[in-house]
Amino acid sequence: MEKQSQLTRTLIAKDKDHVWHPCTQMKDHEDFPIIPIERGEGVWLYDTEGNKYLDAVSSWWVNIFGHANPVISQAIADQANCLEQVLLAGFTHQPVVDLSTQLVELTPDNLQKCFYADNGSSAVEVALKMSFHYWRNVGKTDKKKFVALKNSYHGETIGALSVGDVELYKDTYQDLLLDVIIVEGADNYDKPAGESVDAYVERCFQAMEDTLAQRHNEISAVIVEPLVQCAGSMRMYDAAYLQRLRAACDRYDVHLIADEVAVGFGRTGHLFACQKAAISPDFMCLSKGLTGGYLPLSVVLTTQQIYAAFYDEYTSLRAFLHSHSYTGNPLACAAALATLKLFKDNDVINTNQKLIERIKHNGERFRGHQHIGDIRQTGMIFAIELVQDTASKKAYPWQQRRGLKAYHFALKNQLLLRPLGNVIYFMPPYVITTEQIDMVFDVMEQAVEIAVAD
Ligand SMILES: Cc1ncc(COP(=O)(O)O)c(C=O)c1O
Repeated sequence: MEKQSQLTRTLIAKDKDHVWHPCTQMKDHEDFPIIPIERGEGVWLYDTEGNKYLDAVSSWWVNIFGHANPVISQAIADQANCLEQVLLAGFTHQPVVDLSTQLVELTPDNLQKCFYADNGSSAVEVALKMSFHYWRNVGKTDKKKFVALKNSYHGETIGALSVGDVELYKDTYQDLLLDVIIVEGADNYDKPAGESVDAYVERCFQAMEDTLAQRHNEISAVIVEPLVQCAGSMRMYDAAYLQRLRAACDRYDVHLIADEVAVGFGRTGHLFACQKAAISPDFMCLSKGLTGGYLPLSVVLTTQQIYAAFYDEYTSLRAFLHSHSYTGNPLACAAALATLKLFKDNDVINTNQKLIERIKHNGERFRGHQHIGDIRQTGMIFAIELVQDTASKKAYPWQQRRGLKAYHFALKNQLLLRPLGNVIYFMPPYVITTEQIDMVFDVMEQAVEIAVAD
């Protein structure tokens, strides 16, 4: 290994002494030292040794307009010199009013009210609690169960983890969690080659239909990640499933919670996945890209009808008494407003179509590869699934950590990929160029060969 600078060595040593990293077996860093990042610019991250990495995963899907974006940075700086924080109970401020007004305009028509929190998991907790509390307020106290899809992910706090279904994150904590009804979805990966999408969705939806038919009296809400289950290996499903789900929720008087924490803000090619699927949920959870990837902020949008069920004399004790210290933080709202302005000023949803096409074109390189069981894309989200054998789609044992091999190879080649098990995916900031997309796929192609080599 080349000699490292004093700064790098000190940061690595002190980090090891005192920092416990998220979603990490810390012992792994005995073999692969942590990488100190000094600065970011556009799609690039620069480490303290001067190496650069193209952030092909948008730093856990949050970054939309590149690192150190001058417009967002300036908006935060201006806001910091004016008002950095004020409690949102009893007080309001310009950024939160403007942001709420714009979000209501941009999201499906029935969503009229914004309730803020400060991360995706907390937004999910808010939506679950609000749904449960709504039914209680309208006298339907038996409706307290939640339905979620197989392979779903909604965050790591106890409620959010309960409505998830990724074993790796959930199994250890099972004894702590809510009893949730998990229903098989319509994962495109499992669709038989000869069956049409419509027939497949119709057949798969039966499980949800049966669940709702039998248990709607005890079900508060169904929660889904519309179109793409991101942390669940970027598995994708068709919009027809969401349309059936919306209709069934209406028929059985059950809320629909759309968790757009990961897929919101253009990831699916539309501003929101619900718009792509032409549905309106009862609750929509947003976070991640909301602030362009700058600051933690989340919001739950809901309907006038739900809001009205909480609106009463204080003594009726119907109010939603939920709060977080940083709810509606002005700096985060200013970052979000700058992000929305960038979307508008640059007509981003339309200009991204060119990037989407380039990703699609590049994805074709993997067609016919003997260890790639699936090539999938929804808008700006692309993924390939490594398998032992394409005919049977037999997965590599997770213990082999094939994706990790791809990760290390990519890092040495100026690319930050962070595979999910055997799935290598690409979800870049929208400031990426078509040439940079080509470069990502060049490295990804080699990384695949490293990962599948014995
Ligand atoms: C769909 C979805 N919901 C919720 C969350 C949780 O968000 P956070 O990590 O901000 O708590 C995530 C995080 O990846 C997510 O993908």
